[in-house]
Amino acid sequence: MRAWQVSAFGIDSLEFVERPTPTPGPGGVLVRVRAVSLNYRDLMILKGIYNPKMKLPRILCSDAAGEVTAVGAGVKAWKPGDRVCGIFMQNWLDGPLTPPKARGALGGDIDGVLADYVVLKEQGLVAVPEHLSFQEAATLPCAAVTAWNALASAAIKPGSTVLILGTGGVSIFALQFARLKGARVLGISSSDEKLERAGALGLDAGLNYREDPEWDRWAHSQTDGEGVDLVVEVGGLGTLTRSLRAIRMGGTIAQVGVLAAGGESIPLGLILHKWSHIHGIYVGSRKDFLEMNKAISLAELRPVGEEFGWSQAREVLERMEEGSHFGKLVLTVD
Ligand SMILES: NC(=O)c1ccc[n+]([C@@H]2O[C@H](COP(=O)([O-])OP(=O)(O)OC[C@H]3O[C@@H](n4cnc5c(N)ncnc54)[C@H](OP(=O)(O)O)[C@@H]3O)[C@@H](O)[C@H]2O)c1
Repeated sequence: MRAWQVSAFGIDSLEFVERPTPTPGPGGVLVRVRAVSLNYRDLMILKGIYNPKMKLPRILCSDAAGEVTAVGAGVKAWKPGDRVCGIFMQNWLDGPLTPPKARGALGGDIDGVLADYVVLKEQGLVAVPEHLSFQEAATLPCAAVTAWNALASAAIKPGSTVLILGTGGVSIFALQFARLKGARVLGISSSDEKLERAGALGLDAGLNYREDPEWDRWAHSQTDGEGVDLVVEVGGLGTLTRSLRAIRMGGTIAQVGVLAAGGESIPLGLILHKWSHIHGIYVGSRKDFLEMNKAISLAELRPVGEEFGWSQAREVLERMEEGSHFGKLVLTVD
């Protein structure tokens, strides 16, 4: 089979290689990968920021959709031809996260999915919602499940207000899911054009944070001075202070990411004075993925992304690094 593997850290070191096609052992399922989506994590892994001690070589990426081509002994849930997605942490099926469940993340602890074929565990797969293409389904395992759980962290209901930061993969799913739940969604972006695109997906109000960096004040002006119920926090220390200012008293920060550079210290005063809830999110379980897929199917929700051929893997990672994309970046494995 062919695969993109990290042999040394750095985008230029990503290598297209031949590897033996795996065969499924007992309980294993061989999947012909048809599409893969990129996450910011893949970029951090490739640059050696995510885990500088990672054992190399490692096949990159966690998120794939494809079709089952063979099953190992004892596999009952799947048969050749089934359309499937891998789950991000192969060992986290349900319940709260524990250290053993957290081991086995694709494209990190173990080889990933940016390959023609991958063998995954019988329980390490979910069915692709019928209305989705492979390219659309490949966007789901990490970013969508994360956004789904970010919204669950604040019991968002009709009339709640959610603030999204930027227009990357997690944020656009958070927008789509928040709208499904009847929430009002505010969003900030570096680009007016991206805000317009988000508007077409249901963003209620947007602000260009390059033109007006005081988006915490803006969030208050949009909520009669009260503040938002939830910030889906993808920035990290570079945005956390403003996110805490933007929430209402007793509001929630779903702490997801580390995109924004900035050496600010943790704003303890704000955390206590606002009775804030800071909820760490690390993707989610297979059960979360199944619940999310039910909602996606019922609403016939379509993920948003840009599609490329997988020979362009390096260029597309550079595109992610410059942040010029909107929603997800998807590679078709052809
Ligand atoms: N905890 C988890 O389980 C989990 C899961 C998935 C992702 N993550 C993390 O969540 C973050 C987002 O991931 P992703 O895959 O959605 O990334 P992505 O698609 O690469 O998102 C990039 C976008 O974020 C926006 N952005 C960057 N800096 C910003 C800032 N200072 N303020 C506001 N927006 C900013 C920009 O949007 P505009 O161009 O519109 O400004 C940029 O295009 C990453 O740190 C990733 O590692 C964590």
